[in-house]
Amino acid sequence: SRSIDLAVIPGDGIGQEVVAEGLKVLAAALPQDVKLETKEYDFGARRYHATGETLTDADLDALKGHDAILLGAIGDPSVPSGVLERGFLLKLRFAFDHHVNLRPSKLLPGVATPLAGDPQIDFVVVREGTEGPYTGNGGTIRKGTEHEVATEVSVNTAFGVERVVRDAFARAQARPRKKLTLVHKNNVLTFAGHLWTNIFNQVAEEYPEVTTEYIHVDAATIYLVTQPERFDVIVTDNLFGDIITDLAAAVSGGIGVAASGNINPSGAYPSMFEPVHGSAPDIAGQGKADPTATVLSVALLLRHLGREAEATRIEDAVSADLAERGALPERTTAEIGDALAARVAG
Ligand code: IPM
Ligand code: MN
Repeated sequence: SRSIDLAVIPGDGIGQEVVAEGLKVLAAALPQDVKLETKEYDFGARRYHATGETLTDADLDALKGHDAILLGAIGDPSVPSGVLERGFLLKLRFAFDHHVNLRPSKLLPGVATPLAGDPQIDFVVVREGTEGPYTGNGGTIRKGTEHEVATEVSVNTAFGVERVVRDAFARAQARPRKKLTLVHKNNVLTFAGHLWTNIFNQVAEEYPEVTTEYIHVDAATIYLVTQPERFDVIVTDNLFGDIITDLAAAVSGGIGVAASGNINPSGAYPSMFEPVHGSAPDIAGQGKADPTATVLSVALLLRHLGREAEATRIEDAVSADLAERGALPERTTAEIGDALAARVAG
């Protein structure tokens, strides 16, 4: 279509600064005749302190009407831990059924990695986004006593596992290496592990060209460091995916360049794109934040909306910028955004 209607949620801390640069690059990437409409929403710590609200039903109704959502970061030390996480981030993922949490890791030339040698890193993690231990299905008895018992039940449905596994197979099929790794812990988590493994093996029969493997999550953390080139597409549950994608970001250039999409492939609700990093209140407002992860999230957003050409242009601009970065003096958030916008328009 010739227009994009975007909900913009800058959020807290550096969220404001990085989102401004993301929008700058987005505007530069779009052809002249594509109309970009944005509506800003003030979710996050300020709104919570002012009203006690994190995300209301009316907010969800308003967000529902947009084509996609761009988020900066939500979170502030002034808000008790868990309030914005559950009340905003997870609430939005669950309400809009963002079951594909897409987190690509690509080590671009010129980018530092803590790994030895010259590792080739180019894989994408498809993290399930609506089930597992994130559902809030648990409880406490004898709270506060030395006999307290806390449970946190991991919920895995055949429906939820199958749809994310199918999405991952389709992504693997579309990539040159066509390899898909299931990461789980089916030697210990036998109920959920067998559900995942059985569905994975069933769907694999429909994708004879895709090479498959299974790796336990603990071993996967080793391979992500010692043999990252082994991975092409990884599919895993919500919590394992949370943990291994931070590790993946750390080995492939850090959270300054890690982008993510919270995707509802059906399009029934808008998908949300955000940098993996948080609000970094310690450096907020100083122009020190690297907007690259947000810019790469904008590329994922465009690809999701079917704008492959513009997405690729942005990714190429980021690659070129990162390749030259070592030779440049330190730049501000806005200077990096300007440079990327200029390359994209270029
Ligand atoms: C992430 C974050 C969130 C998660 C938190 C903040 C709820 O760590 O997006 O990876 O655990 O999913
Ligand atoms: Mn995380």
